[in-house]
Amino acid sequence: MSLKEISLEELDPQKFIKEKVDEIRAIVGENCAINALSGGVDSSTVTMLGHIALGERLRTYFIDNGLMRENEPEQVISLFRSLGVNVILVDAKEKFFKALKDIRDPEEKREAITRVFYKEVFGKIVKESGIKFLLQGTNYTDIEETVAGIKRQHNVLEQLGIDTEKEFGYRVIEPLIQLRKPAIRRVAEALGLPKSVYERIPFPGPALAARVIGEVTPERVEIVRRCTSILEQELKNVKAFQYLAILHEDKVTGIVNGKRKLGLQVEIRCWDSVDAKTASPTKLSYEILEKVSERITSEVKDVVSVTYNITGKPPSTIEAV
Ligand code: XMP
Repeated sequence: MSLKEISLEELDPQKFIKEKVDEIRAIVGENCAINALSGGVDSSTVTMLGHIALGERLRTYFIDNGLMRENEPEQVISLFRSLGVNVILVDAKEKFFKALKDIRDPEEKREAITRVFYKEVFGKIVKESGIKFLLQGTNYTDIEETVAGIKRQHNVLEQLGIDTEKEFGYRVIEPLIQLRKPAIRRVAEALGLPKSVYERIPFPGPALAARVIGEVTPERVEIVRRCTSILEQELKNVKAFQYLAILHEDKVTGIVNGKRKLGLQVEIRCWDSVDAKTASPTKLSYEILEKVSERITSEVKDVVSVTYNITGKPPSTIEAV
């Protein structure tokens, strides 16, 4: 791999920001650039770099796939608006749920989400805009994982459905390509992004769909969304790498209003980890676990069972899908 990493120790955040801003300006010139913002650390950092470099000539889109956490689209958009970045919201919920209909296989689900995002939604926006410069938050680990065959091929234009033979002049700008996550968090902080962004716990690309076993429907995502919200409230002071709630497919017998009734099962996972490659379950107190269970079963309709995962990664993975 010829690309050289800039380690956290080597990184001078202000110098890095200046170099990248100059680089983006030099590449884009008087033209416009386009990017998609999810609210994650990488895309938030890239958006700020692009904004400083290009101002109004950066066009930033937030694609609402219907799979985000409670109020997430509104919060991300209002944060960036407060920083002077005009984010355009695209409601693509229906397209995503249509593509996810009847799919149960985890890989097929992931594939459907990636396809809709790149080809049907963002790819169309890019082509119709006529803008030829794309800002992308690819990082050093993404490249390593692509080389090692862990991730799908890293070729953004191909993913967007842009045939570079036919459609000339597209250029992808990847300012974070030499940095790993800890260094990106440092740059995000130096850019003035709030702690909620630079210390944000990992959240997967397929969003809450990675936490729904079986079919991903708006109703089933809503159950996971409610559980996630409760879990995040109850665990906000716990030092952990990541925590999540998973909706299972099988129903179990429960007792609701004194009657036996088939109900839903929710699994909680909370992880200690450094790099997500291996992880072990956090030794949460029984008090916290009981509170989470009590709130989920009383506040989320039809849930009659809450379990805590006690298996490490491997053989478990962090997410369920
Ligand atoms: P797994 O489930 O593979 O997750 O043990 C490892 C870490 O990666 C996150 N994750 C993803 N992040 N896009 C992402 O940006 C994805 O498709 C994706 N899948 C998993 C996961 O949350 C965990 O931190």
